[in-house]
Amino acid sequence: MIEVQHLTKRYGRVTAVQDVSFRVERGEILGFLGPNGAGKTTTMRILTGYMPATSGKAVVAGFDVFDQPIEAKRRTGYLPETPPLYPDMTVREYLLFVASLKGVPGKERRARVDQAMTKTRVADMAERHCAKLSKGYRQRVGLAQAILHNPDVLILDEPTAGLDPKQIIETRQLIKELAGTHTIILSTHILPEVAQTCQRVVIINHGHVVAVDTPDNLTARLRGSETLYVQVDAAGADATPALAAVPGVTRVAASGSAGQTAGYEVESARGEDVRRALARTVVERGWGLLELRPMRMSLEEIFLHLTTEEEQKEPAEAAHA
Ligand SMILES: Nc1ncnc2c1ncn2[C@@H]1O[C@H](COP(=O)(O)OP(=O)(O)OP(=O)(O)O)[C@@H](O)[C@H]1O
Ligand SMILES: [Mg+2]
Repeated sequence: MIEVQHLTKRYGRVTAVQDVSFRVERGEILGFLGPNGAGKTTTMRILTGYMPATSGKAVVAGFDVFDQPIEAKRRTGYLPETPPLYPDMTVREYLLFVASLKGVPGKERRARVDQAMTKTRVADMAERHCAKLSKGYRQRVGLAQAILHNPDVLILDEPTAGLDPKQIIETRQLIKELAGTHTIILSTHILPEVAQTCQRVVIINHGHVVAVDTPDNLTARLRGSETLYVQVDAAGADATPALAAVPGVTRVAASGSAGQTAGYEVESARGEDVRRALARTVVERGWGLLELRPMRMSLEEIFLHLTTEEEQKEPAEAAHA
């Protein structure tokens, strides 16, 4: 549904996006994740036809955004970083106006506007002037204008930025409801957001794609070794030597203690299941095994890992100055 190939955008000497490629399948929600200045907004502006790329190709709903911009735009809904509302119009007036701009036939406009307001839960603000909306409602009206013409593709630039926790949950729920009938790209620098909302993630840093995968695979892929957390009541004794002696264990690190119990992080080579042997060792010594569970790298850690690794290489700007 969306195909991006070798997209590059330079602003003078600054390379904002470099050789970015990814695909989004129909009905999928793709998370575009990266720190400030990574190139998320730039990529989205190119995909929505607001700005040309320096080089590369982007196809949205079967239409090349450079060669057939009108056809591509007709099938795209865009929520920019700051929704462009008209302060003097009421929410309903504004949405009717956008509907006419988007070529929704006159007879259908009222019904479409009502539907969009219901879906984004702004109907109670229909007669309120846009200038008097709270930030969260502005964001939702922005979402309403993006879905008005029922586009195949939705491109949402930080759709939950500035919302309160309740609104964030509602907006994520709405986005999930919209997927399936719409193909969605959303950008964020908030990690739990992609884990909760997206099927796949593109991680971008300094204009480069550093990873494309499902949140689960990203977690698994970066876990070179298996780490278990083991909590033992060894009556105050240090269990490290005993745990380290278990066949397959490559490293043991103490991880906090309280009274008689102590926690340990036990590493083993990938694919080696040392849980039974560990449990046996602890029990045979007459200690209490209080906890034994796999430790997973959180998305936060993965994100830092990927973006810090990238930092150590040359930044795009320096490389192309
Ligand atoms: N109009 C412009 N002229 C020059 N440089 C720009 C322009 N717009 C963006 N940039 C630069 O391009 C890079 C990418 O910016 P972009 O806005 O795409 O990042 P982003 O990932 O959306 O960041 P954020 O999370 O802060 O929204 C940055 O280095 C930025 O300074
Ligand atoms: Mg941005």
